[in-house]
Amino acid sequence: MEISGKAAVITGGGSGIGRTTAQALAKEGAAVMIVDLDDRMGNEAVELIGKSGGKAAYRRADVTNAEQMRRVMEDTVAEFGRLDILYNNAGIAIAHPIYPKTPLEKWRRVLDVDLQAVLLGCQLGYEFMAPRGGGVIINTASMAGIYPHPIDPVYAAAKGGVVHLTFSLYRWARRGVRVNCVCPGIVRTPLLERIAAEITAAGGKPALPTNALTPDRIADVVLNFIRDDSCVGQIVEVRPSGPHVVDPPRAPKRRS
Ligand SMILES: NC(=O)c1ccc[n+]([C@@H]2O[C@H](COP(=O)([O-])OP(=O)(O)OC[C@H]3O[C@@H](n4cnc5c(N)ncnc54)[C@H](O)[C@@H]3O)[C@@H](O)[C@H]2O)c1
Repeated sequence: MEISGKAAVITGGGSGIGRTTAQALAKEGAAVMIVDLDDRMGNEAVELIGKSGGKAAYRRADVTNAEQMRRVMEDTVAEFGRLDILYNNAGIAIAHPIYPKTPLEKWRRVLDVDLQAVLLGCQLGYEFMAPRGGGVIINTASMAGIYPHPIDPVYAAAKGGVVHLTFSLYRWARRGVRVNCVCPGIVRTPLLERIAAEITAAGGKPALPTNALTPDRIADVVLNFIRDDSCVGQIVEVRPSGPHVVDPPRAPKRRS
């Protein structure tokens, strides 16, 4: 799909990977609706895009709230005249204490934001895109959703859910809605800095790699998903050495 002239919704677009992807899409000529809970960061992202000649707007919405997210989709169509791209990217993690010591309300919030909100986003995205000729949905999971991640098993479970959700939505392409998923390794963003600060405050030693990725490496994968119409139900992990397509698990053959 050509990016220029399209309209995109990006959740968590105020910061980190979401902001960088919003800037990259705007640079390619898409109008971008930034969704976040942090008004300062969301408005700043819009300002930056505007200053470089791009088109963007900001809506405060919680990705776990169905009414707020429906309004975001409606506002995008009202403001930009269309909705072609949805990037379900907002996410949080538990830095401390590690599960099972994590309080119930804290790990439930991680499942809500990192998994249930992606289900909600996909549902709304399909509802808005399928009758309008289709579009592209991209989800941010994590390499923690593919490989064991003992320092945050709840995050791993949520992101593993996003990976399998994406694998399982390939049939939506029949209605023109392609769903793909990017699984970043460690990326230098405010999220990473917050986690490191929380671990340090709790007396631990955060192990931050020296070769952490920059957010533009993830944005490149997202833009490729949009451009390449053959990407359907694809999971791409991003390591410092580069992006890599993850083979889908094969179901055993049924005996008749
Ligand atoms: N940074 C990494 O190392 C890394 C690695 C793998 C995956 N990821 C994933 O990438 C995504 C983006 O992470 P990031 O590192 O850019 O983080 P970030 O904290 O820099 O940005 C995330 C944004 O999401 C917003 N947000 C959080 N909860 C929200 C909610 N309920 N509703 C609306 N907005 C909300 C935050 O306000 C923030 O602006 C997340 O899904 C994260 O899990 C990050």
